[in-house]
Amino acid sequence: MAVATHVRTMLSGSSVIRRLFTEGEEMKRIHGADRVYDFSLGNPDVDPPPAFIETLHAILDERIPNKHGYMASAGLAETRQAIALGIAPEYGVQVPPELVTMTVGAGSALSLAFAVTVNPGDRVLVNAPAFVSYANYLSVHRGTLEMIPGLADFSLNLDEFEQRLGPDVAAVIVNSPNNPSGAIYSKESLVRLAALLDSASERFGRRIYLISDEPYREIVYDDLGVPSPFSCYRHTILVYSWSKSLSVPGERIGYAAIHPAAEDAELLARGMTAMTQNMGYTNAPALMQRAVARLGKASVDVEAYRRRRDMLAAGLKAAGYEFDLPRGAFYLFPKAPGGDDVAFCQALKDERILAVPGSGFGMPGWFRLSYCASESTINGSLPGFARAIQRVLNHSS
Ligand SMILES: Cc1ncc(COP(=O)(O)O)c(C=O)c1O
Repeated sequence: MAVATHVRTMLSGSSVIRRLFTEGEEMKRIHGADRVYDFSLGNPDVDPPPAFIETLHAILDERIPNKHGYMASAGLAETRQAIALGIAPEYGVQVPPELVTMTVGAGSALSLAFAVTVNPGDRVLVNAPAFVSYANYLSVHRGTLEMIPGLADFSLNLDEFEQRLGPDVAAVIVNSPNNPSGAIYSKESLVRLAALLDSASERFGRRIYLISDEPYREIVYDDLGVPSPFSCYRHTILVYSWSKSLSVPGERIGYAAIHPAAEDAELLARGMTAMTQNMGYTNAPALMQRAVARLGKASVDVEAYRRRRDMLAAGLKAAGYEFDLPRGAFYLFPKAPGGDDVAFCQALKDERILAVPGSGFGMPGWFRLSYCASESTINGSLPGFARAIQRVLNHSS
C-alpha cells in the first residue's frame, strides 16, 4: 500500500477519455490508422501559423543573455508587459504586469487559480457541459467540482447557480467558447452571474472568485465577439493558453491574469508566484515566453476549423443527428440517438468511430466529437455515422 490513498482513489475512477485513447490506439494498430475515425481528443492538427516558426528561428539566432536560464517564477518581465498591453484594448481592463503570471498552459494556470482560492473541502461550481479535467486539477487542492445541470441551449443555468451558491463555494468557472458545446455565453448572462456572485459573497461574508478559462478565445466562427467575465466581474482570474490559438499544446504556454480591482489582487498574485515554485513548475518555458511576447495576435487558420465544422455538420444533419452548430472551439455536441450516450458511443465504436459520451462532461444523453480531424477522416466517417443512427433508431422503434 505504498501508493498514496488519494492517488489510488483517483486511479480507480474511470476516465472515459483516457480509456478511449488506449482503445483507439489498439484499434488503429489492428485496423490501420486511416480506417479508424478518431474524434475523441482535442489535440489540434492544424499547423501553427508561419509567424510562430519564424519567431522561434529568430529567437534561436539572436544573442540573448541567459536565453534558456531560470527566471523569476512569474515569468519574463517583457512577456508579462506585452500581455498586460494586449489585455487592455481587448477587455477594457488595465492590468499591471505584476498581476500576470506566466504558466505551463491553461492547465497549470487553472491549478494555480485553485491553489490560491480553494481551501480543503470547498466547492467550485461550473455550468455543464464542462471540461473533464477541472475536477482533476481541483482534487490536488482537495476541492470538489460541482457541475450545474446544463440547459438544452447550453446557456448558463443561472437559477441553479443561485440555488447552489453557499459559504463553502470558493469560485465559479466560466469557459466560453465552451468545450464541449461550442457555446459562447451572452454578455447579459455574464452580467447576471456577476450580480449573483456579488450578492452571495456579501451574504456569506466570503468573496467568491470567478475563473474565466478562455483557451478557445480566438477559435470563433462568423466574426462573433466573445463577451468575457473579465469585463463584467472584477473578482475574476483570467486564464489563457496558446495551446489552441497557435496549435502548440505540447509546448505548454499560457498565463493567469488577475483583475486589478479583485479583492486581495496583489496577494493572489504573490500566492500564484509562490505556488508556481511549490508545485514544481518553477517557471513557464523560456523560449515560448519569448515567442508569445513577440507574436501579438498571430493565430491558426480558423477557416480550416470552420470548413471541418461545416463538413461534419452537413453529414450529420443529412444522417438525422440533432445538434446546434458550434459558435466557437472545435467540438460538435449532438444528442445521442436513443438517449443513452454511453451505448451510442459504443455503437459508433462498432463503426470504428471514436466519440466521447456526454456523461463525462456532466451532460448524459449527448456526445462530443472533436473535429481536430482531417477532412478525409471526416468524409470517411460519414457512412459509419449514418449506419450507427439507423441501427439505434430501428432498434428502438
Ligand atoms: C476548456 C479547456 N480548458 C483548459 C484546457 C487545458 O489547456 P492546456 O493544454 O493549455 O493546458 C483545455 C484543453 O483541452 C480545455 O479544453
